[in-house]
Amino acid sequence: MQILVTGGAGYIGSHTCVALLEAGHTVIVADNLCNSKAETIDKIKQIVNQGNEANMDNKITFYKIDVTDEVAVEKVFSNHKLDGVIHFAGLKAVGESVEKPLAYYYNNLVSTIVLSKMCLKYGVNKFVFSSSATVYGDNTVPFVETMQLLPTTNPYGETKVMSERILTDAIKANPDFSVSLLRYFNPVGAHESGLIGEAPNGIPNNLMPYVTQVAKGKLEKLRVFGNDYPTVDGTGVRDYIHVMDLADGHVVALDNLSNGVHIYNLGTGQGTSVLQLVKAFEEANGIEIPYEIVDRRPGDIASCYADASKAERKLKWIAKRDIVEMCLDSWRFEQQNK
Ligand code: NAD
Ligand code: WQD
Repeated sequence: MQILVTGGAGYIGSHTCVALLEAGHTVIVADNLCNSKAETIDKIKQIVNQGNEANMDNKITFYKIDVTDEVAVEKVFSNHKLDGVIHFAGLKAVGESVEKPLAYYYNNLVSTIVLSKMCLKYGVNKFVFSSSATVYGDNTVPFVETMQLLPTTNPYGETKVMSERILTDAIKANPDFSVSLLRYFNPVGAHESGLIGEAPNGIPNNLMPYVTQVAKGKLEKLRVFGNDYPTVDGTGVRDYIHVMDLADGHVVALDNLSNGVHIYNLGTGQGTSVLQLVKAFEEANGIEIPYEIVDRRPGDIASCYADASKAERKLKWIAKRDIVEMCLDSWRFEQQNK
């Protein structure tokens, strides 16, 4: 299939491009590079074709465009006979979304509207959307797709709830359209080559990139946000999932798409506390991570992990890589990434 991957130069998008290409699909990337670099496209080619990048030119095409720009997006739809869209492009920093809510609502909602409008106009009826476990709010773990969603604590989370709603309503009005809403838990890790991974700008907000920067000596110590949660050791529990497992989840979601709206949790089903993750990283890589316990971070919940059984039942997908592999691959990328 020929797939438009918006945000394909970003963290999850780039790994998914690798998985799509390896599964034999052709990829059109649309990214404005607001949080990524064009070199990532060359690295994707390098991984897939093991050094012979020239052969990849007809397999992956890159457009540096903003996917809120309807005219630019329409050119892509008219230039290529697309079979489907995977929509990763979005702004994702929770704290920044509180400071700049309009930028988040505009970017994340207008992009979803423009892309679904073009899909309907050009008869592209497969759409896979990057949603998030954040839509569950502070629910009871494990989070199941059928649960009633509780309020999110920030504009970023609301853009995911609203995008899910927009796509669900679009389906009701257009029954030939098919959408998969993939609710990711906490993506970490990197491609085993160490060529692509997560390289946040400035000081990382997320735990794993913070830990790898402490390991590298770029940051002095980890601040653990609270040890008085009702969890195994008092620190926050999350469902960390290797980004390559997540990437594979997109390929199977696309391959199995049928009419209607389909919601899937993409997680491991395993909860890991902050201190358990620190210990796993130390043991896997033989590096000590100094840390101090500080106050809870506003907006955090105690525990978040998936009931991942629907994806296993319906898509025959399970996350294969364990926390050790996540720690090894995250660290390999940090060391190689200049
Ligand atoms: P990322 O920032 O690495 O990738 C997003 C990409 O989209 C970037 O390359 C950025 O340049 C591009 N982009 C943003 N707005 C754009 C626009 N208007 N036009 C064109 N390109 C645009 O983020 P990621 O971690 O790869 O996340 C991908 C998607 O998954 C996002 O929608 C995010 O909200 C969602 N998600 C991420 C996580 C996570 O923890 N990483 C968890 C759940 C959901
Ligand atoms: C994980 C745990 C922190 C940093 C966020 C978004 C969510 C989704 C994934 C997009 C928590 C603790 C963290 C640190 C710490 N993104 N922590 N010290 O908050 O679960 O999810 O990313 O959809 O929407 O909210 O991920 O990696 O920030 O935190 O102690 O320096 O690590 O308190 O318990 P989170 P995270």
